[in-house]
Amino acid sequence: MNILETGFVKGFIRMADDGWKLGWHERNGGNLTYRIKPAEVEEVQRFFDYEKPFQPIGTSVPGLAGEYFMVTGSGKYFRNVILDPADTTAIIEIDEKGENYRILWGLVNGGRPTSELPSHLMNHEVKKRVTDGAHRVIYHCHATNLIALTFVLPLTAEAFTRELWEMATECPVVFPSGVGVVPWMVPGGRAIAVETSKLMEEYDAAIWAHHGLFCSGEDFDLTFGLAHTIEKSAEILVKVRSMQPYKLQTIRPDEFRSLAKDFKVTLPEKFLYEKKL
Ligand code: 13P
Ligand code: ZN
Repeated sequence: MNILETGFVKGFIRMADDGWKLGWHERNGGNLTYRIKPAEVEEVQRFFDYEKPFQPIGTSVPGLAGEYFMVTGSGKYFRNVILDPADTTAIIEIDEKGENYRILWGLVNGGRPTSELPSHLMNHEVKKRVTDGAHRVIYHCHATNLIALTFVLPLTAEAFTRELWEMATECPVVFPSGVGVVPWMVPGGRAIAVETSKLMEEYDAAIWAHHGLFCSGEDFDLTFGLAHTIEKSAEILVKVRSMQPYKLQTIRPDEFRSLAKDFKVTLPEKFLYEKKL
């Protein structure tokens, strides 16, 4: 079997292409990483080349020592992933210290994994721990409406979570723990990775002000679905605010509490504060 016919590789490519089609990946914008299951590593191991040197990740992720990831390449365009996965993506292995990686497959025309590798791996490390290994996907996209909102809403988890929840009844069920917010920071390094991974202790989604969104999930469907739900909500809020600056009616705190009861989710009270419409 060709490596491109493997289930996780097909899922990875489809997700990248879906994000491109929704307009969240202009040029090389966005990146995607998947923590490969041991059985899946076995499936594709015969395609690996172990000759490439280990290189520094730029941060330390001891909780991911020996793990394998499929990643998008730095500077690669999501619109090209479906056309040439071997050029635009890679499979990497983390060393036994969690400080270096090496490319085992892909990036056949040169290049390196996404510049946001420190953020992806630090998020993976947190999520692997707090979900007992369940979460495997970290996705960064430049979701248009959500970015627009980072210019007009306070940059707090309270403001973003509550406004996004109000825009679609299913939102509190899809992301009951809310969304975290990272203020504007220089992307691509360890500092923003540290701030984002702190938020991933509590949330499955973290907004980067004036930049985009990071989502974590168990599989491609759940992670893409989370980003899609958040961006759809942001789009509704942009439309509402474009029509008029205030709402005439909305979902109120006690209604969220009733929803939580029926749908058996816990909604933190810090998001159910009293406020004007
Ligand atoms: P890469 O091309 O290095 O993945 O960077 C794109 C991006 O969105 C940076 O935040
Ligand atoms: Zn980005």
